[in-house]
Amino acid sequence: MKLLVTGGAGYVGSVCTAHLLDAGHEVTVLDDLSTGHRDAVPAAAAFVEGDVATATDGVLATGAFDGVLHFAARSLVGESVVDPAGYWHGNVLTSVALLDAVRAHRVPRLVFSSTAATYGEPEQSPITEDSPTRPTNPYGATKLAIDHAIASYAAASGGELGAVSLRYFNVAGAHRPVDGPMLGERHTTETHLIPLVLQVALGEREHVSMFGDDWPTHDGTCVRDYIHVDDLAAAHLLALDAAGEGDGPGTHLVCNLGNGTGFSVREVVEACRRVTGHPIPAVVAPRRAGDPAVLVASARRARTRLGWAPQRGDLDGIVADAWSFARARVAS
Ligand code: UFG
Repeated sequence: MKLLVTGGAGYVGSVCTAHLLDAGHEVTVLDDLSTGHRDAVPAAAAFVEGDVATATDGVLATGAFDGVLHFAARSLVGESVVDPAGYWHGNVLTSVALLDAVRAHRVPRLVFSSTAATYGEPEQSPITEDSPTRPTNPYGATKLAIDHAIASYAAASGGELGAVSLRYFNVAGAHRPVDGPMLGERHTTETHLIPLVLQVALGEREHVSMFGDDWPTHDGTCVRDYIHVDDLAAAHLLALDAAGEGDGPGTHLVCNLGNGTGFSVREVVEACRRVTGHPIPAVVAPRRAGDPAVLVASARRARTRLGWAPQRGDLDGIVADAWSFARARVAS
């Protein structure tokens, strides 16, 4: 297929681009490099540097695209609480412009990076796609708004557009290509737990802060469902097929992507100690605004509707890949 990947210079977007190329697809990456890295875009992909809101239409005009995978977004829970405007503009308005371009150029498939943050504090665990969506932070609210926009564009497309929103839980780990450097998480300002903990093991910070030890969980720290980025990428390839065929044009399918197992912040720190052999000092800090206590996925729908089966669910294995990437980054 001829595909456009927005945000293909970012962590998840670059890994998915590598998987798409391996599967024989032709990929154009569109990224403004505001948070992504040019050298993360696999060499076999065409690259356009530009703003998704203004440049998507022009890119789609260059040929008959079979699908768009839309990763480009602001994606930090804490940042969204202090800068909601950046999220409503950067996520929602940009995505509506992208949807207009998809409609204008009659692109038949759209796969969108949605998030577990659309659910907010869950009433039941694991979370199914039918759970109430009551986001506890602007990041989740903007992604939910985009999910609604996609559903209505698909429904009104006269059968031209089939779309899938994939609701990611906590993506981690790194991709090891057959050739070329590893692809992993490399944010200028890192806020995600596993790369931060590994920075302690690398000697780049003295300790990790655990945001709250008074949450209603088994050890008082927040619980999340960690999913390997390669498993996540595999789901995108399956979603492309479902968007075009399985669920048919004019439909919008929402699928959670997670392993169905929760690990607390303390357990993640312990896994990082095991994998790195470093003592990794950890201190308890105040709760972070916008955090739900527990986010664990039911991914039954992805299994039954997409035929997805995660292969890399072991937390130590996920951490080991993130650790390999972190050490390679420091060495280069
Ligand atoms: N945490 C700490 N200390 C840190 C960093 C994080 O204790 O220094 C805690 C957080 O409070 C949270 C957990 O570790 O409880 C995970 O935090 P992350 O920042 O790594 O990830 P989030 O759960 O906030 O968010 C991630 C993605 C979102 C996605 C969400 C879904 O960034 O896009 O997972 O579960 F929506």
